[in-house]
Amino acid sequence: MSAVIEIEKLTKIYEGAARGQDVHALKELDLAIEEGEILGYLGPNGSGKTTTIKMLLGLIFPTSGSIQIFGQSDVDSPEVKRNIGYLPEGAYYPDFLKGEEVLRFYGKLYGMGGKQLEKRMDEVLELVGMTHARKRLIRGYSKGMRQRIGLGQALISDPKLMILDEPTTGLDPVARKEIRDLIVEMKSRGKTVMISSHELLEVELISDRVGILFEGALQTIGAVGDLLTDRDLVIEASGANDERLAKLSEKGITAEDRVDGRVRLRISANHDLYDAVDICKANALEILNISPRRETLEDLFVRVVGEAKANRS
Ligand SMILES: Nc1ncnc2c1ncn2[C@@H]1O[C@H](COP(=O)(O)OP(=O)(O)O)[C@@H](O)[C@H]1O
Ligand SMILES: [Mg+2]
Repeated sequence: MSAVIEIEKLTKIYEGAARGQDVHALKELDLAIEEGEILGYLGPNGSGKTTTIKMLLGLIFPTSGSIQIFGQSDVDSPEVKRNIGYLPEGAYYPDFLKGEEVLRFYGKLYGMGGKQLEKRMDEVLELVGMTHARKRLIRGYSKGMRQRIGLGQALISDPKLMILDEPTTGLDPVARKEIRDLIVEMKSRGKTVMISSHELLEVELISDRVGILFEGALQTIGAVGDLLTDRDLVIEASGANDERLAKLSEKGITAEDRVDGRVRLRISANHDLYDAVDICKANALEILNISPRRETLEDLFVRVVGEAKANRS
């Protein structure tokens, strides 16, 4: 495998109006994206994802550091540009246009035209499942349909690399799934995909690797399964009251959530499960369900950032 994107010590400082107001949006980022992989580029709002992407596209300039795309350091070269499909965050298309007109417009920006462009539009509309609505105005599209046209726009030049900034944000669950399926389809067609999101759940299923950005620094990167530690368990039980929960708490079992008598108990990894079950029984709780506790992006951040801070001192 070879790297499609290679970023070294990439730094971006947005200069503020006055001293002390500068924003250090990205701090010496090192990141490589391999050919054919889907990389989930994760981080909470304001962590620097869009800033990174805009520098990859040559839309803003780095304060320092270097970027290579397809082995070239000139990200503005037509050769590089032609091979990148970009879906901006919150992409907006004029709503008086028809879906197919958006694709034609972008195709022309890429220097395409004539029969070649019309043929490619047919292919792309089919791929993103919008053939049936191609002659309808964007105005009448759902958010999911708009986003599919957005993906079509990013695909029009048949690029090798797709950079998608928050492609599923703001969509309903069905539309999210459709967009995710399309991204997987692109990978199967040999494309390299970088997809940013502020939600782990959105990208973990489809990403080969995820990188986690926090305050402009990459905290960790790797396969999802290697990053998430699902060691804790949750016991759901009924029959809880204050007195019983106080007894459980003495034994190191705490309630995460409670609605009347129903509780979710967090069993930490170093607590023996059988022992925890016995404690529940001894306190007249009826166990309804035991499941692994899925680590969320927030949990992962807290852990990863906590570890980073601990290692610093
Ligand atoms: N044009 C800009 N001028 C000043 N600050 C900016 C600008 N764009 C982004 N920022 C700041 O840079 C940081 C990173 O923003 P951004 O890259 O948009 O994060 P993300 O995409 O992860 O939400 C934030 O603190 C944001 O407020
Ligand atoms: Mg963003």
